[in-house]
Amino acid sequence: MNSHATPTAAARTAATRTAAPDTAAATEAAMAEILELDAEVLEAYLSELTTWLGELSDREPVRIVDLGSGTGTGAIALARRFPRAGVSAVDVSPQMLHRLSAKASGLGLADRVRGVQADLDQGWPDLGGGDLVWAAAALHHLADPGRVLSHVFDALRPGGLLAVTEMDFFPRFLPEDAGVGRPGLEARLHDALKGAPAPGWTDHLVRAGFTPEAERPFVIDLPAPLPGATARYAQACLRKLRSHLDGQLPADDLAALDAVTDDEGPHSVLRRGDLTVRTTRTTWVGRRP
Ligand SMILES: C[S@@+](CC[C@H](N)C(=O)[O-])C[C@H]1O[C@@H](n2cnc3c(N)ncnc32)[C@H](O)[C@@H]1O
Repeated sequence: MNSHATPTAAARTAATRTAAPDTAAATEAAMAEILELDAEVLEAYLSELTTWLGELSDREPVRIVDLGSGTGTGAIALARRFPRAGVSAVDVSPQMLHRLSAKASGLGLADRVRGVQADLDQGWPDLGGGDLVWAAAALHHLADPGRVLSHVFDALRPGGLLAVTEMDFFPRFLPEDAGVGRPGLEARLHDALKGAPAPGWTDHLVRAGFTPEAERPFVIDLPAPLPGATARYAQACLRKLRSHLDGQLPADDLAALDAVTDDEGPHSVLRRGDLTVRTTRTTWVGRRP
C-alpha cells in the first residue's frame, strides 16, 4: 500500500467524511488508535527524524505547524525536540484534536501545543508565520496538495523548512511462515492492496517555490522481541488491511489472517514472540528561498 498514492487516499478521506456518523466515528477511532501506537512503537525513528530537521534548520525553530496532525505524533515530538517552540497542530477532525490536547496536557506541553480545527481542503487557517512546517502521512489525503503547499510557502519565513513525510509501504510484522499453514500470507496481503508507485513530492515542492533540500528514506527494521505495544500495533494495522481485503485473497488466506488478528488463539499477534516491524518512510525537505 502506497500511502502517498494521492487520488486513492484523498477519495478514501472524502468517503470517511460522508459516511454514516457511527461508521465515520468508528473508522476515525480505529485510525486514531493506529496513530497513537505508531508514535509509541516508532519513537526512535521520530527522534532521529526531528534531530535531522534540527540539523537542517538555519536556526532553532520556534514557530512550528503540523498539518494533518492526527493525534499529535509530530506536534509532540517536535515540541519535545525544540523546547522553545510553539506548535500549531492543524486537523479537520475534532476527535483527533481532542486526543492531541489530552496527550499534550498529560506531558505538560499544553502551553506549547495548540490544536487548530480546520479543513485544509476548504482554505488556509490563520496560523501566523512559521519556521518549520511538518506534514506526515497527511498531504496525500488532500484534494489539492499543490494549493496547500503554496499557502505553506507564504506562511514560512525565508529560510524556513517544509518537511513532508509519507509511508512507502504499510508496516509488516509477521515472519514468512507465521505458523498458520499459509506461508507468505503477509506478502500476499500487501500485494493485493498495492497501488501504483507514488511519484514522490519533489515536483510538488518545486512548483510551490521551494528549493529541494533533501530526500531521505528512513528504513525501519525493529527485531523481535519487541515491547507489548507492538502486538497491539500489529493487530490494529492488520485489521485495517483486512477490512479492505474481502474478495481479494483466497478464503484460506482470509481465515489465516483472522486467526492472526483475533484476540485469542495460539496464532494471535497478541500472543506471539516473533513479531518484527519493517517499514520505510521517506521525508522530503524544501526550503523557502
Ligand atoms: C494518516 S493521518 C496522519 C496523522 C499524523 N500526521 C501522523 O503522522 O500521525 C492523516 C490526518 O490528516 C487529517 N486530514 C485529512 N484530510 C484533512 C483536511 N482536509 N484538512 C485537515 N486535516 C485533514 C486526518 O483527520 C488525519 O488526522
